[in-house]
Amino acid sequence: MTIEQLAVIGAGTMGRGIAECAAAKGISVIVIDPVETARDNARQQIMSSVSKAIQRGKIAATAPEEVLQRISWAGELIAADQADFVIEAASEQEAIKLEIFRNLDRLCRPAVVLASNTSSISITRIAAATSRPTQVVGMHFFNPVPIMSPVEVVRGLQTSDATVSITSDLASQMGKQPLPVQDSPGFVVNRVLMPLINEAAFTLQEGVADAHTIDSLMKQGCNHPMGPLELADLIGVDVCLSIMRVLHRDLGDPKFRPCPLLARLVDAGKLGRKTGAGFYDYPAK
Ligand code: CAA
Repeated sequence: MTIEQLAVIGAGTMGRGIAECAAAKGISVIVIDPVETARDNARQQIMSSVSKAIQRGKIAATAPEEVLQRISWAGELIAADQADFVIEAASEQEAIKLEIFRNLDRLCRPAVVLASNTSSISITRIAAATSRPTQVVGMHFFNPVPIMSPVEVVRGLQTSDATVSITSDLASQMGKQPLPVQDSPGFVVNRVLMPLINEAAFTLQEGVADAHTIDSLMKQGCNHPMGPLELADLIGVDVCLSIMRVLHRDLGDPKFRPCPLLARLVDAGKLGRKTGAGFYDYPAK
């Protein structure tokens, strides 16, 4: 099944990355976000990312407008009513996602698959908010979406084989590598990655080393492309904290307790690159 019209809910970092990848592969995309400035910002970011991708020969377009023209923008969820497939990438709060899925279930055609890019919320629980639980699935992309190849295709308790197959085909159509996982807190990547970031925060909090040293050691000593603290700033310190809280609560194991330093940074509004400061400062260019 080829998807021709994709709806992406949310114009944040993940939503715009997903929209860019789909549009770059010829899929028409409608990005829906109630905040006009978020839509404007996403449009600019996609323009700059696509320009870079063209320069590097990653996209077979001659100008960014070729990709941008496949993306339309809307502020209301009703604009998803003609989509063949929906990917929700709204903020990582369960109440918000459940509300969106209830509304999508009402607005979208009965055959349409509803996917969530959630990084840690139960797909089974999201599916239960709809009347089509067999057609609800996780589609978990990685940041930066245009560069990172894998997608975790998350099977909830009631997700059908057909839904997993349609979703995997869409990921392939978008140039990504679909990898099947079961619905479990944090799925695979965040279950393994977030405790690493959390432990790096504890290491900093306890004064074992400063942030640069911790990141340099992990980069050079383990050959990671980025240190865990700079990666936390890329992902969003608030996102990391929220995932640690889900792992701690849902797996019930004290080894997942969130580092207090993560909470302190979030309280201070230091959420990482997106706010200009996190573990590091990012002066405006
Ligand atoms: N579009 C397409 N491709 C692009 C691009 C764009 N806009 N910009 C760059 N690229 C390509 C480059 O051409 C290059 O490709 P080649 O290797 O084939 O030449 C590649 O991407 C790397 O580009 P750069 O050399 O400019 O970048 P870099 O070497 O500084 O690496 C990075 C940047 C890929 C982000 C690297 O630092 C990295 O892998 N970091 C780790 C990221 C990571 O772990 N992400 C997962 C986070 S977890 C998550 O997201 C899940 C969650 O739920 C929280």
